[in-house]
Amino acid sequence: MSDNAIPSAATTPSPPAELSQDALLQGVVLLGKGGYGDAPKAELDRMISAVRTSGRYAFVTGAFVEQGSPSIESALESLSNEGVRRILVVPAFVPMDRSLRVWLPKIVRRWLRKRSDTNVDVVLADPLGDHHALGDAIRQIVVDAERRPDVRTNAPRDRGDPSWSRNPPHKHHLLFCMGPRCTTQDSGELLHRLRTALEKRRMLSGPDQVRITRTGCLYPCNLGPVMVVYPDGAWYCALDNEAIDRIVERHLEGGIVLDEFTCPPAAHPYKRPNGVHV
Ligand code: FES
Repeated sequence: MSDNAIPSAATTPSPPAELSQDALLQGVVLLGKGGYGDAPKAELDRMISAVRTSGRYAFVTGAFVEQGSPSIESALESLSNEGVRRILVVPAFVPMDRSLRVWLPKIVRRWLRKRSDTNVDVVLADPLGDHHALGDAIRQIVVDAERRPDVRTNAPRDRGDPSWSRNPPHKHHLLFCMGPRCTTQDSGELLHRLRTALEKRRMLSGPDQVRITRTGCLYPCNLGPVMVVYPDGAWYCALDNEAIDRIVERHLEGGIVLDEFTCPPAAHPYKRPNGVHV
């Protein structure tokens, strides 16, 4: 799939004035899985609104575990900065695979370790797929479907799009990792920065365009955020704002691979540019 606008969850609202002191100290982060276009954000926003209407929590916000932004850490950070002292993290998507079940508490604990100066508690809710209420919802959807018409009723004409039948010319093809571990290291924000820089330089169109494809995990998660630039086969790791800016200017525009940011395939572990051995 080609890259498209990545979903970005709602910002944290101000609390309603009538909440009790206990409620003012509690916040909720609903976790979604991202995807293409605005639909994942709209879905997550609807769930956020539903929780807000309960009136039990001062702050309710969202984050994406992959293929979107903000990251879990960013959402936790923003609630903590609002003065929230107990945060309920709720995986509001299905399915939640085994690696995510293992990895999610690790990510939260890592964030807490970084914030050892605070007394924030973070609680992980049961995954949505494990909850009995999901069975009720599915049964209701099946019953509702009994009343719906055949899919051919009032269907728009399917014209097809000829642009999907060609491979546009391009100079560089980027594989940009939006897997779970890179997403938690704010790859969504970095991708936005990359696209903005390329747009300003008019490098996202024309025969010499840079094509960006968002991917799932590219494997060396400990070196994330990761991006690969073809045809050069340059693996860029531990990306940050400075690396993105320089890669755009020196590699994508200037044609020079920046060895200081690369981690080419090899049998041995790399050191990240910040010196941390992984
Ligand atoms: S999630 Fe990006 S390399 Fe694994």
